[in-house]
Amino acid sequence: MKKIYIAPSILSADFAFLARDIKKVEKAGADFIHVDVMDGHFVPNITIGIPVVKSIKKVTDLPLDVHLMIDNPEIYADKFIDNGANILTFHYEASKNPKELLKKIKERNIKAGISIKPKTLPNVLDDLYDYIDLILVMTVEPGFGGQKFMPECAEKLLYYRNKHLDNIMLEVDGGIDEKTSKTVINNGADILVAGSYIYNSNDIKKAISSLKNPN
Ligand code: DX5
Ligand code: ZN
Repeated sequence: MKKIYIAPSILSADFAFLARDIKKVEKAGADFIHVDVMDGHFVPNITIGIPVVKSIKKVTDLPLDVHLMIDNPEIYADKFIDNGANILTFHYEASKNPKELLKKIKERNIKAGISIKPKTLPNVLDDLYDYIDLILVMTVEPGFGGQKFMPECAEKLLYYRNKHLDNIMLEVDGGIDEKTSKTVINNGADILVAGSYIYNSNDIKKAISSLKNPN
């Protein structure tokens, strides 16, 4: 069986105790730390930005999986990379020239990710596969943690899986729990983002392993 990676979203952590909550998931077997950056324009919520990424970098050895839900990602990409992003994912819908931005991120020797919102068709990325390291399929409308999983969005994973894009990781984000993880793993996901399911659980280690090995 192929390896499944878990990326806890710190959006559901307690921001007053961020270092503690990052250590918690690190000790419990997380593979990445998923950092949700929102600007109040691209999505109707504001979260955290570059200085917080810089601080998080000091307290964890896990790679930072930075998910930009912002307009004009081309303006800010370099700053996020300078401050510790290991994967930098921006939204297809927010970018004026996705190919150029993917190339720019890869030139900085980190992984370049691109994400699509629920209403965006999977084939919009067809001309970009040569420049992509990771595709992030949203299974909720981006903006908030704790929303309900949209099964019709998880079907987009099948579109990419059937293309056998061997050099591209498939990541899924939104409403992932011990039940929905089974669907997305079956559909070809490699990396599962989960916020509320992990951070609301009493036993984080068990929660992470239930995502990797759903019944
Ligand atoms: C939503 C964010 C997600 C969010 C996931 O816009 O991109 O990463 O934190 O939260 P859950 O797992 O609670 O749906
Ligand atoms: Zn996210």
